Amino acid sequence: MSLRNTHNTYGAVAKLLHWVMAMMILGLICLGLYMTSEPDGDPKWALYDLHKTIGSGVFVLLVVRVVWRKISPPPGMPVTMGRLEQLAAHAGHAMLYLMMLALPVTGYLDSSYGGYHLSFFGLFDVPMIFDKDEVLLEFYAATHSYIAYGLIAVLAAHIGAALKHHFITKDDVLRRMTVGR
Ligand code: HEM
Ligand code: HEM
Repeated sequence: MSLRNTHNTYGAVAKLLHWVMAMMILGLICLGLYMTSEPDGDPKWALYDLHKTIGSGVFVLLVVRVVWRKISPPPGMPVTMGRLEQLAAHAGHAMLYLMMLALPVTGYLDSSYGGYHLSFFGLFDVPMIFDKDEVLLEFYAATHSYIAYGLIAVLAAHIGAALKHHFITKDDVLRRMTVGR
């Protein structure tokens, strides 16, 4: 398997980044929904720290992924897909990238305006550039939640589309992001 994407399939780097980030993000959604429903105290704040650390990891991998996508552009969509369908797929992927950026950014702003700390896997604390502000804390916490709910909806469509391609259209779309050709 080639490291780079080719004109009709994803390469190893794009596949690895897609699946590692997919696991992290699906985990963050479950963790986020669970931790916010816990009573204040132990283990809620430890789960918040875990959520924030993994979330900052998503940010770093996203930067790597976007740079790699410039170096090695993704394969074209199958010719069997109509113009409108291709447009919808591109728009969906663009939304996913935008949300993968907006969640760590609003999460960071939530931490900074809340006067909290943000540890990057216990290695160092990410500097907090804004002073504590209750109003902005509320605003970014709510925005973060709404974007996360939006992501769940877009992901339902994304995963549904992948399954439709595989089981109904029976094309290569799912296989070229997995171990097949
Ligand atoms: C792609 C990355 C991320 C995803 C998918 C994600 C997802 C979520 C979800 C689903 C919730 C629960 C929302 C609710 O029910 O109110 C949540 C809450 C939260 N997230 Fe994230 N998150 C991500 C990154 C981050 C990062 C990087 C930080 C901090 C640096 C962060 C900080 C928080 C905080 C503080 C809350 C609780 C907000 C509240 O108290 O209402 N998240 N996140
Ligand atoms: C079980 C879950 C998932 C499945 C089955 C799946 C499947 C796929 C498939 C088959 C493709 C290739 C589409 C094509 O060939 O044009 C793809 C691309 C993509 N997926 Fe997923 N995915 C999943 C989870 C996720 C998650 C959690 C995210 C992030 C929020 C995500 C973000 C993306 C993005 C941004 C692309 C476009 C890649 C590019 O061309 O730059 N996926 N996915």
